[in-house]
Amino acid sequence: MINSPAELERLRQKILSKRDSEKRRISVCAGAGCLATGAHKVIDAFNAEIEKEGLKTEVHVKGTGCPGFCERGPIVVIDPEETCYLQVTPQDVPEIVSRTIKESEIIDRLLYVDPIKNEKAIRESDIPFYKNQKRNVIGNNIKIDPKCIDDYLALGGYAALAKAFFQMTPEKVVEEIKKSHLRGRGGGGFPTGIKWEAARNAPGETKYVIVNADEGDPGAFMDRAVLEGNPHSILEGLIIGAYAIGSHEGYVYVRQEYPLALENIVIAIRQAEEHGLLGRDILGSGLDFDVKVHRGAGAFVCGEETALLLSLEGKPGEPRARPPYPATSGLWGKPTNINNVETWANVPLIINNGAGWFGQYGGEKNKGTKIFSLVGKINNTGLVEVPMGATLRDIIYKIGDGIPGGKKFKAVQTGGPAGGCIPEEHLDIAVDFDQLAKVGAIMGSGGMIVMDEDTCMVDVARYFLNFLAGESCGKCSPCREGVKQMHRILTDITEGKGKEGDIELLEELAMSTRSASLCALGRSAPNPVLSTLRYFRHEYETHIKEKRCPSYSCKGLVSYYIDPSKCGACRICDRDCTSEAVLGGKNLIHLIDQAKCNRCGTCFEVCPARFGAVIRISGESVPAPIPDELRIIVRQRRAKREKQDERNLVTD
Ligand SMILES: Cc1cc2nc3c(=O)[nH]c(=O)nc-3n(C[C@H](O)[C@H](O)[C@H](O)COP(=O)(O)O)c2cc1C
Ligand code: FES
Repeated sequence: MINSPAELERLRQKILSKRDSEKRRISVCAGAGCLATGAHKVIDAFNAEIEKEGLKTEVHVKGTGCPGFCERGPIVVIDPEETCYLQVTPQDVPEIVSRTIKESEIIDRLLYVDPIKNEKAIRESDIPFYKNQKRNVIGNNIKIDPKCIDDYLALGGYAALAKAFFQMTPEKVVEEIKKSHLRGRGGGGFPTGIKWEAARNAPGETKYVIVNADEGDPGAFMDRAVLEGNPHSILEGLIIGAYAIGSHEGYVYVRQEYPLALENIVIAIRQAEEHGLLGRDILGSGLDFDVKVHRGAGAFVCGEETALLLSLEGKPGEPRARPPYPATSGLWGKPTNINNVETWANVPLIINNGAGWFGQYGGEKNKGTKIFSLVGKINNTGLVEVPMGATLRDIIYKIGDGIPGGKKFKAVQTGGPAGGCIPEEHLDIAVDFDQLAKVGAIMGSGGMIVMDEDTCMVDVARYFLNFLAGESCGKCSPCREGVKQMHRILTDITEGKGKEGDIELLEELAMSTRSASLCALGRSAPNPVLSTLRYFRHEYETHIKEKRCPSYSCKGLVSYYIDPSKCGACRICDRDCTSEAVLGGKNLIHLIDQAKCNRCGTCFEVCPARFGAVIRISGESVPAPIPDELRIIVRQRRAKREKQDERNLVTD
């Protein structure tokens, strides 16, 4: 039990002095992404190898939170040198111990290699993916075993809490958050300090503070990574918020599909209670504050704050009209402050370092950093944290390392399923709440999906509307019906059944759904439609008028044929076809049975370049069928081609 700031400091010093004897630290990312690629086995292998080599007193092995570069996991960082190894397997472990731990040698094959310059990066901070970020919030993930409160305390954890309690009044805390211009990271971007002030000033003895960890955007995992990787940072922010607002009870609302996040936050709460950082008379300050965890059942709409509140009360999670806002009438009708995971995690940083420090990152009305989940057609996928105002181009090219396979960039979708698609011409805008809105997109909670030239923008709109139609709670008809109808029209267009007038109808539906829906789900659901219409209208027109998908992506508008004059009868497409649609045979020109073909495009991808026999068509006239007598033996042709290949080789 820690009863005062002085005791907190003594405990920290004790932890640090104990750690001096540990000469090396091996941190293995144990985030969900790395666990999925075998991080557990890597940790076990390190523990066994360290034991075998008698190094237990000199080397400390730990599983940590996610540092963001999930694409290259399992990730191992060896401190104090900060040597970073990627895609480590249990088989690599004995060599790492014998060479890097014992001899301080670097194992080249496990390092990051810049694909263009071919340069190797030894330290984590030298990898371009990290070098161009500012990781204020997730930077500590790789240093912390999230199940061990000592790791958080060693890094100065709960010092902000002590400072707030003993050096600041609740009003001063609210003032500092206001001065920092921190805006909510859950999507709306509302100024956090103003919300806190409203909840603080609302009449009533009982007040609640809530962490919104519902995170339902497909492909987004920023909140999960912070919750899994550094749960105490969220708790510390929440307790400071409770002190500022005058609350004695808080909730963490986490979706059930986040088992590791749930496990780690439950452990963190228990440890904080055991240390006197939660419960009665926290740190001897006189403040009582308890936190409970609530498991959400996974409905996207339950992330909306009023739906979340009803869900917490045990009722169906449906949004309600505001006002009244939760700040005056929230959980069980009491004043309630809800903030996003990342918003809460920023609070200790602001209290520790001051609003001025926070303000050095970002532009005038958008301060601090923001974590994005960078996914899609991009070389480096993962979590990236950048100062507000970084450009999309820098995020995609400097951090994400551009588009794979030499393909062209087409668009980036920001803001989750109800976000907007931004084309190349706007890649230099500063990424913040206001600039994204100007180009028809939103910040949302930080989803960022990169699309290349093979992506059909009509199909993208259809995909997101499909998600949103399924997630609409159905309470208000503009959203329930409007989103469904937009999805129906988009489906028709992508299946080649689009009609004249569909675009105008889509626009009309989008505008009425946007203006008449009850909550921001319906109000923002038209974004994918309106933004793709704004920048890629020609793609809609081509689908409708020419029954053609220019990206060869809409299955209903694409078919695959084999050019008999080029087919080498190699049977590769026959072997890889998932629907057994290729009529092949040794030395027989192959055919695609159109009735069986599921338009997956595998034959097009696997047909060897030397033949290039599979043709992909959309909107063009279908080739004439090959008469049976022409499906002749192609042995001679193949022999001729092979001879030619040999001759070419000799000449080369
Ligand atoms: C459909 C919908 C889903 C939402 N999902 C989330 C979510 O998963 N997490 C979140 O923090 N905010 C979500 N929000 C925003 C919340 O309503 C609310 O604005 C936010 O939790 C406030 O915290 P902040 O001020 O820190 O952003 C969602 C909003 C809508 C309309
Ligand atoms: S889960 Fe390991 S880097 Fe993200």
